[in-house]
Amino acid sequence: MNFSIEEIPLNVAVYKPTDDGDFIFVDVNSTLEKSEGITKDALIGKRLTELFPGIEEMGLLQCFRRVNETGEDELLELALYEDKHKTGWKRNNVTKLANGNIAAFYEDVTENNQEVERFEELLEKKTAELESQKKELDKRVIHEIKKNREQEKQMLMQSRLAQMGEMLSMIAHQWRQPLGAIASASANLKLKLMLGSFPLESEASREECSQYFSERLENIEGYVDNLTTTIDDFRNFYKPNKTSVELSLKEVVEKSIQIIGSSLKNNNIKVVQECNSEEIFSIYDSEMIQVVLNILNNAQDNFLEKNIQNSTITIKTNASELSICDNGGGIPEDIIENIFDPYFSTKHEKNGTGLGLYMSKMIVEEHHSGTLQVVNIDGGVCFHINLKGV
Ligand SMILES: Nc1ncnc2c1ncn2[C@@H]1O[C@H](COP(=O)(O)OP(=O)(O)O)[C@@H](O)[C@H]1O
Ligand SMILES: [Mg+2]
Repeated sequence: MNFSIEEIPLNVAVYKPTDDGDFIFVDVNSTLEKSEGITKDALIGKRLTELFPGIEEMGLLQCFRRVNETGEDELLELALYEDKHKTGWKRNNVTKLANGNIAAFYEDVTENNQEVERFEELLEKKTAELESQKKELDKRVIHEIKKNREQEKQMLMQSRLAQMGEMLSMIAHQWRQPLGAIASASANLKLKLMLGSFPLESEASREECSQYFSERLENIEGYVDNLTTTIDDFRNFYKPNKTSVELSLKEVVEKSIQIIGSSLKNNNIKVVQECNSEEIFSIYDSEMIQVVLNILNNAQDNFLEKNIQNSTITIKTNASELSICDNGGGIPEDIIENIFDPYFSTKHEKNGTGLGLYMSKMIVEEHHSGTLQVVNIDGGVCFHINLKGV
């Protein structure tokens, strides 16, 4: 035995178990003597718990007892031995010998373990760094999202302003006719007065005069009513939509035509309406009218720019779909992908904002969970709004 344990390149100690659960040193090899700094003579015959009081805390004493009891080998990976004088990490292999003694083969792995500890420390540091980087990143993401929202608000403002400009030109078109009629009616009345057309001495003539004047004044009132309605239409349109209303697509089209109709007419653009669907949707009306106006305005811009003859816009509703098609030649295939991008515009000399379709898509898709799509057709282009599921 002596001879054999000397050959093992590990610390080896052999113990004899005692009745009271301790272990007496019976043999050790010289590797152990060196590494523990203690001679064999000082060990032999001594109790393990006496010489190594930290052995129970370490868990090795219990391990010895188990091996003694069961006869099964055990490996005690990485256990820390600590007492007043010594401390170190050990890896122990414990086995029961044929003669009933217990042998422990062990090595000091403090250094390896320090390596592991250093690695763990490094890992912890890196994890903490990562954690703080992640927090920083989260903050940045939130910041960016906020910035995006700001930007979106600004875009909305810009597009509203642009729309306001377009709107004013629509109002101008819409007012031209009633204002002209009022001017001519009042000029007419003035002329009659100046010419003294009605000899007021006769009862019949007075009657005629009164009739003539009240007819013209009624006409004027009618035109004034018309002007007032226009203003109301626009005012309602600019009231921000807080809540949605129950509306059919047909009504959306009608309200839009009320606003832009005169302008289209003045530009000789024919509007064909095939709107029969009565299906009701929950709609933010001024926003959805804005979408339809954007599309109609774009069609009009294109007709005027290309000087298209027989310009026609066809508006159809079919169940949940509203389609607006024109015969203005369509959109070049190489830019059709981009028309919904913010600030994309081909109207540089006309100061296009490039926000109309971007906002329209946002309104339809984000505020109404619908879709807005574009397809070129023979001789023109179609925009399809679908409110399926709204
Ligand atoms: N009906 C149409 N026919 C031809 N081109 C169109 C039509 N509608 C939109 N476009 C193109 O899409 C672009 C983007 O439209 P929009 O977002 O409303 O911005 P803007 O009208 O300010 O240019 C237009 O500049 C135009 O090139
Ligand atoms: Mg536009």
